Amino acid sequence: MISGSTRVGAVIGSDVRRSLSPALYNAAFDAAGLDWRFVAFNVAAGEGSDAVRAMRTLGLGGMAVTIPHKHDAWQAVDVLDPSAAALRSVNCIVPLGDGRLVGASTDGVGFVDSLRFDAGLEPAGRRFAVLGAGGAARSIIDALGRSGAASIAVVNRTLSNAADAAELADVAAVGDAGDIESAEVVINTTSVGMGGTGEMPCPVSLLHRGHLVCDIVYQPLDTAWMQSARAQGARTLDGLGMLVYQAVHQFRLYTDGIEADPAVMRAAALAQLANR
Ligand code: ATR
Repeated sequence: MISGSTRVGAVIGSDVRRSLSPALYNAAFDAAGLDWRFVAFNVAAGEGSDAVRAMRTLGLGGMAVTIPHKHDAWQAVDVLDPSAAALRSVNCIVPLGDGRLVGASTDGVGFVDSLRFDAGLEPAGRRFAVLGAGGAARSIIDALGRSGAASIAVVNRTLSNAADAAELADVAAVGDAGDIESAEVVINTTSVGMGGTGEMPCPVSLLHRGHLVCDIVYQPLDTAWMQSARAQGARTLDGLGMLVYQAVHQFRLYTDGIEADPAVMRAAALAQLANR
């Protein structure tokens, strides 16, 4: 039951009606027996900073930030975690007791945790190829670099964007088809294939049985690219794990150290996706 002492968290974005965050967090709060609720606020572009400031006024317990407010949130908080500082992007805000707001970036660490816990792969010492160089790619490159990856080849349509993203980790560099073939893990971070278009983010002939092939697209959950990768003998990892584990990370920050059950979050997300 919601009472006067219920803690409230919120996600802000310019199109949050389809956000999975309330379902994920509320399921995890219920499972953990916490007096918390998570809601979604539609906030227009340009008004992200106002929404962040309102956290203090309203005493919100935490805020998840999505498109297009991640850079505004980066500017509006008082303290940044190292990834948020490097990426100039914040997707999670936590109030300190003294009124200051801490901004974190949890997407990359969410991907790394999904690698570890869903695919059983420790990133330290591994060779990666990242397809794409947008916001999601940047957070993954940053987190892989911090996790001790041996090399990260950034392969992207626009070379200058690849070069910018490769600046985020010492072991990252602009890569090509040969780097995809010789990598141990290939990650699609582009929107190619989203919505089930069947388009491929790289030639399928480059994929083989030595690869773990990851897609961060989770609609559809099993993309045409992942299916093609398996036909080439590769193992695959779906994109829902990154969403779940970045939420587990945010949940821990909001609740000052309580662990969310990733299986509960994943089930809640799948239930929402099944309704679409
Ligand atoms: P996000 O923040 O979700 O990662 P983004 O910043 O829009 O999204 O980045 C999209 C990425 O997908 C970019 O790397 C983009 O390539 P460019 O840098 O060349 O724009 C890539 N991308 C999008 N559509 C693509 C397509 N049809 N073919 C190849 N790459 C594509």
